[in-house]
Amino acid sequence: MKTPLCDRLGMTVPLFAFTRSPRVVVEVSRAGGMGVLGVIATDAATLEADLDWIDAHIDGKPYGVDVVIPAQHVSGSGPMGSSEDLAALLPPEHVRFVDGLLARYGVPPLPPEVTAHEALKAWTDAASRDQVEIALRHPIKLLANALGPPPPDVITRCHDRGVLVAALIGSARHAAKQKEAGVDVIVAQGTEAGGHCGEISTFVLVPEVVDAVGDTAVLAAGGVGTGRQMAAALALGAQGVWTGSIWLIVAEALTPPILRDKLLAATSADTVRSRAISGKPARQLKTAWSDSWDDRASPGPLPMPLQFMLTAEAVARLYHAAERGLDNPLLTSPVGQIVGAMNEVRTTAEVMADLVAGCDAAIRRLNALGTARATG
Ligand SMILES: Cc1cc2nc3c(=O)[nH]c(=O)nc-3n(C[C@H](O)[C@H](O)[C@H](O)COP(=O)(O)O)c2cc1C
Repeated sequence: MKTPLCDRLGMTVPLFAFTRSPRVVVEVSRAGGMGVLGVIATDAATLEADLDWIDAHIDGKPYGVDVVIPAQHVSGSGPMGSSEDLAALLPPEHVRFVDGLLARYGVPPLPPEVTAHEALKAWTDAASRDQVEIALRHPIKLLANALGPPPPDVITRCHDRGVLVAALIGSARHAAKQKEAGVDVIVAQGTEAGGHCGEISTFVLVPEVVDAVGDTAVLAAGGVGTGRQMAAALALGAQGVWTGSIWLIVAEALTPPILRDKLLAATSADTVRSRAISGKPARQLKTAWSDSWDDRASPGPLPMPLQFMLTAEAVARLYHAAERGLDNPLLTSPVGQIVGAMNEVRTTAEVMADLVAGCDAAIRRLNALGTARATG
């Protein structure tokens, strides 16, 4: 099942796992795949500690870090500016709308000692670059960027250190540009994926991107939760799969149990692609949060990154309450359509073993079809 990209990265299973949990990163990499730590809301001290912990537990296996340096945002395509500059752009009408929602749904305030949302508010070009510097001081093998290729100097710094660069795209139109920019691994993410996504399905997008970029490695993202889906992605020409949603409900995930239970109960029809979280279309669990932003009374989401900054405290309050066992109709999470198949909590190692066995079995089945035809 190994692909050329596996050989380049020292992996035995062509599976990448995006996750906020350092423990999931370690378990996926130890099982032969690659754990990729998502660090968008992580402050510098926590990131340093998380990467130290991973280094101490991962047995030298390869892992990656995923940052979010948007190529396009409200202030154009240059650096995003300071968080204070951006905060001044939040229209009072939008601030009132969010305050009204939180009051209507009785979301408790954060206690004064909780400052987790500050990290989200400080999601600026400068903060993302600090994250890159911290990551490059650790033995990472891959740096991924969520929204377009990272800036050229970041790509050069990675390549100088032997770190491959990955970037997520949602349309084949962007593929050649990514390759030109020096991206080594293109993650073709279909509309069924959790988080930011375009409108084209994985099944259609992956072959288009594979054809557009020649020998550059392509990973299939969006809707992969079983070994059968892994095998299908390989059949489409991908050199592996990039997964996210399925790791939200494993035993080692950081997901609060209340939210995990909502995800366990959700069907594949219970997600929506909405700008309500970040200002860019992102697939998420459909709850009163996305419904409210769709409502006629809503002022409409702000562009990226303002919507993120506008809603950061609200999200922090909802999660803080959820971690204390308080559910709320507004509580949501980015998640893909694969949520309908996420029905039980298992360890990361169990999920990995299942994916590998399922992919092997699917490939054997397909090979047998070929043999039957040849002999029949
Ligand atoms: C909760 C959640 C948060 C995500 N946040 C990010 C992110 O910060 N950066 C990123 O590159 N991708 C992010 N993604 C997208 C994943 O990297 C991945 O592409 C996607 O989950 C794949 O589709 P799937 O959800 O069907 O597995 C997120 C996905 C989820 C489910």
